[in-house]
Amino acid sequence: VKILEPESILVYSKYRHDLPRFEKILAQSLPGVDIKYADTPENAERYFADATILYGWGFPAAWLRQIPRLRWVQKMGAGVDDLMSEWPTDLEIELTRTDGKLIAARMAEYVLAMILDHNLQIDRARVLQRAKTWKFFEMGALSQLTVGIAGLGEIGSEVARLLRNVGCHVVGWRRSEAECEFVSRTFVGAERLGDFACGCDVVVLVLPLTVDTRKTFNSEMFARFKPATHLVNVGRGGVIDENDLVAALDDGIIARASLDVFSQEPLPVNHPFWQHPKVALTPHVCGPLIPEDVAPHFVANVKAYLAGQPLSHTVDVSRQY
Ligand SMILES: NC(=O)c1ccc[n+]([C@@H]2O[C@H](COP(=O)([O-])OP(=O)(O)OC[C@H]3O[C@@H](n4cnc5c(N)ncnc54)[C@H](OP(=O)(O)O)[C@@H]3O)[C@@H](O)[C@H]2O)c1
Repeated sequence: VKILEPESILVYSKYRHDLPRFEKILAQSLPGVDIKYADTPENAERYFADATILYGWGFPAAWLRQIPRLRWVQKMGAGVDDLMSEWPTDLEIELTRTDGKLIAARMAEYVLAMILDHNLQIDRARVLQRAKTWKFFEMGALSQLTVGIAGLGEIGSEVARLLRNVGCHVVGWRRSEAECEFVSRTFVGAERLGDFACGCDVVVLVLPLTVDTRKTFNSEMFARFKPATHLVNVGRGGVIDENDLVAALDDGIIARASLDVFSQEPLPVNHPFWQHPKVALTPHVCGPLIPEDVAPHFVANVKAYLAGQPLSHTVDVSRQY
């Protein structure tokens, strides 16, 4: 690799325990490259003057204008919605994100776990156990379920693959006409969303948050759902109108919402989801950024960057994902 001086990488993670793990991989894989590490905004600011590349997660979009030599940003995660509203389109900064496939396997397992818990009624068995009640019920079977995956990108297609392999009937919804070999049918575009949702027992959201997807799942859309649908959201909370979701749960249109992501995180303590009997929630944990999983993709991109080659997983800022 030809090192074109003077590139300087700033690696930022608010999780202090992750930094030595990133450092171990990056120092070994990119010898001779100037790399600084920071776990607080104060520590990061010391490196702003030199940094040309920012590899990070959870940093404010305002930084993009405060780092004068910045040419390329790679998000450690797969989502970029936090940067979109303030993205400096007047500056020549390239944006890439982590390869969703590196996070997808864990997220697909989470979706399967939520489906087993609700649709095979493991949650019901726990209630019976607590009441010391011995009562037969028919558990259900994955082969009886039609699961719709909204968002057939890198993560959504892995969710589709796993669910199909365990016997579910899987359909999908996306923006483009692209093929996905793991679904039996694909619905394309906003006008087909209702047709997609009305045939599903489980609707799984694996969508980025963009101007087009924000609050797409609202009362009007829930009215098209099959009665007692199970809604699983692992993408971004903002794609759901949360007040409308509470109403749909109370009305029985949605029997269970399994939610990992919320429009406001951390979820406020007074939010109705916490206590709602039909909500199963987790604190945005289903797709963790494990340094050993995601750093090799950044290393490959740095090598491409230094060699003047195209980067992988460039974000199209105009479509916001
Ligand atoms: N919970 C967590 O811990 C966690 C972890 C990682 C990621 N995420 C979230 O998961 C999201 C998906 O990641 P990914 O790597 O799979 O992204 P991706 O590869 O970019 O896939 C996004 C998918 O959404 C579809 N889409 C986007 N806008 C749409 C619209 N307006 N209408 C219909 N479909 C639309 C795309 O359709 P086309 O394929 O037709 O373009 C694509 O299939 C990320 O953006 C992030 O927010 C969450």
